[in-house]
Amino acid sequence: MAQFHPLTVTDIHHTIRDAVVLTLKPENPEIFDFKQGQYLTFKRDFDGTELRRNYSICAGLDDGVLRVGIKRVDGGAFSTFANTNLKVGDTLQAMPPSGTFFTELEPDQAKSYLGFAGGSGITPVLSILKTVLAREPRATFTLVYANRAVNTIMFREELEDLKNRYMGRLTIIHVLESGQDMELFTGRVDQEKCENLFKHWIDVTSVTTAFICGPEPMMLAIADSLKTHGLEPDQIKFELFTESQQGRLAKQALAARAADQAGTEAQVTVEGVTRTFTMPKDQSILEAALDNALDAPFACKAGVCSTCKARVLEGEYEMLSNHALEDYEVEQGLVLTCQCYPLSDKIVVEYDTH
Ligand SMILES: Cc1cc2nc3c(=O)[nH]c(=O)nc-3n(C[C@H](O)[C@H](O)[C@H](O)COP(=O)(O)OP(=O)(O)OC[C@H]3O[C@@H](n4cnc5c(N)ncnc54)[C@H](O)[C@@H]3O)c2cc1C
Ligand code: FES
Repeated sequence: MAQFHPLTVTDIHHTIRDAVVLTLKPENPEIFDFKQGQYLTFKRDFDGTELRRNYSICAGLDDGVLRVGIKRVDGGAFSTFANTNLKVGDTLQAMPPSGTFFTELEPDQAKSYLGFAGGSGITPVLSILKTVLAREPRATFTLVYANRAVNTIMFREELEDLKNRYMGRLTIIHVLESGQDMELFTGRVDQEKCENLFKHWIDVTSVTTAFICGPEPMMLAIADSLKTHGLEPDQIKFELFTESQQGRLAKQALAARAADQAGTEAQVTVEGVTRTFTMPKDQSILEAALDNALDAPFACKAGVCSTCKARVLEGEYEMLSNHALEDYEVEQGLVLTCQCYPLSDKIVVEYDTH
């Protein structure tokens, strides 16, 4: 599960000045079959430290290629490497596609999708919109795409081409911090902006599913507004890119946990290998599994990506942060092991969740 596979970089395209779109060729294509909206976890050694980073697939299912878009973050290790050092012909190591930022395709249904993307948050939304427009012939898609200025819009030309190709089915609303004539399309996408968009341009009552990917405050404001306009929580799908800081409460909870000297007997299974060991109550299940030589999968270690997902079969636990699992998954006992700490004296965890 935590296995990495080689991908050859076959093309590097600069969509804007500080973002690249990489086309990747797997040695074994079946391993990289993906669902629209999923991401890849890459690993790379930087001066002796292994970093793992997630990048969403921006290709649609019918594009016939594997593609990711990487925006350079100031001082960011992997994104700067990808934007400045990576060359065609280089090899990257990635895990098979993962993530649940999609809904099942239903070609007979006339669905109405609404997508919100901020900056590089367009990548999974682009994959979704290309796929649903091609595979669900009666579907429509409205995209609200927030950027600082025109020259920071990733995939601008591709989006224009798609708009022409799917005339009447794809609507794109660009909201820019500056450089727009109409006030409605200028500024940040906050609750007030949503209210105005929903009043004048978007009929939320007809929306089947909304996909939101962007900075966390923007996502929360949009979700609140959608709920106010009648959307149910299960009609709203999120993908969060940035790691949130662990809150004060989480840190307090961990400090209290450190005082509990008893430890927990943990039984953890990864890819059929089971180990039993004693772990402290202030250590995450993921760190304990890695410390005990289990090849447990992970990427962000911040409760954002769901790569470290596992099922708790026995025992009590607390998950300090969860930006990736849906409520129904949590109800089924699924946890993000990087955020999951044992409460009981025994805990049984299985990583093979399928
Ligand atoms: C599920 C998922 C999918 C993702 N898909 C994409 C994608 O398709 N395209 C893409 O460009 N990125 C994507 N990301 C973000 C990506 O994984 C990295 O977090 C980002 O590229 C920064 O990594 P880095 O090694 O360059 O920076 P780091 O060296 O980790 O960080 C450097 C500094 O930048 C800050 N920082 C970290 N991440 C961000 C960010 N995203 N925005 C602003 N500041 C940040 C950090 O706090 C730190 O101060 C995704 C993240 C997740 C969890
Ligand atoms: S490693 Fe990303 S949620 Fe745990």
